[in-house]
Amino acid sequence: MGRKRILSGIQPSGTLHIGNYFGMMRPAIHLQDEGDAYYFIANYHSMTSLTDAAQRRKNSLDVALDFMACGLDPKKSVFWKQSDVPEVAELAWLLSTVTPMGLLERCHSYKDKKAKLAGDDLDQVNHGLFAYPVLMAADILAFDSNIVPVGRDQKQHVEVTRDVAIKFNNLYGETFVIPEPQILPEVAVVPGVDGQKMSKSYGNTIEIFGDEKALRKKVMSIIMDSRTPQEPKPDADKNLAIQLLKLVAPADVSADFENRLRAGGLGYGDLKKALFEHYWNYFAPMREKRAELVGNLDHVNQVLREGAEKARSQARRVLDKAKQASGLN
Ligand code: TRP
Repeated sequence: MGRKRILSGIQPSGTLHIGNYFGMMRPAIHLQDEGDAYYFIANYHSMTSLTDAAQRRKNSLDVALDFMACGLDPKKSVFWKQSDVPEVAELAWLLSTVTPMGLLERCHSYKDKKAKLAGDDLDQVNHGLFAYPVLMAADILAFDSNIVPVGRDQKQHVEVTRDVAIKFNNLYGETFVIPEPQILPEVAVVPGVDGQKMSKSYGNTIEIFGDEKALRKKVMSIIMDSRTPQEPKPDADKNLAIQLLKLVAPADVSADFENRLRAGGLGYGDLKKALFEHYWNYFAPMREKRAELVGNLDHVNQVLREGAEKARSQARRVLDKAKQASGLN
């Protein structure tokens, strides 16, 4: 077999933060060199929870800009907007007829969202939210994907995809390639400014792109304890600013700060200032690239259009095969 096909979808859920970057974007960008990478903006999926049209449009463009600024290379990857390949929606219907209800009812992500919404508004528990893993299966199977890099929370959805593909193949004959999940390593646990996992829903994020002053303020707001600067801190490795510094500064620099904190004499304010400078420098080339892309939106739109065209011809082939196998054609 030739190169592996790697596929993943990115939810257009608003401003990306450094937890997204180290947990998902950076690994996805590295994978571009290890196989044929297929990445798309999951805007159909976003409809299960977001109902503001302008917001969806803006988020989708933002995520395209962010991804390209951070190193997604359209020469190496196929990159498109999910809804520009409507074949996946048709394929999702075919797959839904071989998906047992029980399989979907057992999905943690659905159960969690339902439990969260049940208190205030049961109407928000829509069919799309329930059927979401079937659409995700179509996303994956439409492109003969071999490897699906995802966070731990999405592993079960890839398993549903495998079950559904095997069922279809058994019923109608070999049609789909069976994919494997590749669980992204847990650098994903990037702490937020309050010490919990960095997540939009906790309101504790540090964004990748944004206003310098506001971001400096955020970094300076990282929670510390009340020990004086002079006190030695044997738990220096647990310090939030140190943990974040390890992500954005050279190893010798972060080790030096950690040692100074452990020994005593380094104030939290100075540590956070250093963290801000390293964080700001780390993302400087991406910031520059993003500004360049914002000035050339035609280019970004063209990348997405060409990506959609390539993706579409792949999806068309797989869909035709599935329609043939199941007697629709
Ligand atoms: N469900 C994924 C998430 O929320 C996004 C996604 C949609 C996806 N379709 C996909 C990921 C297909 C991998 C493969 O993060």
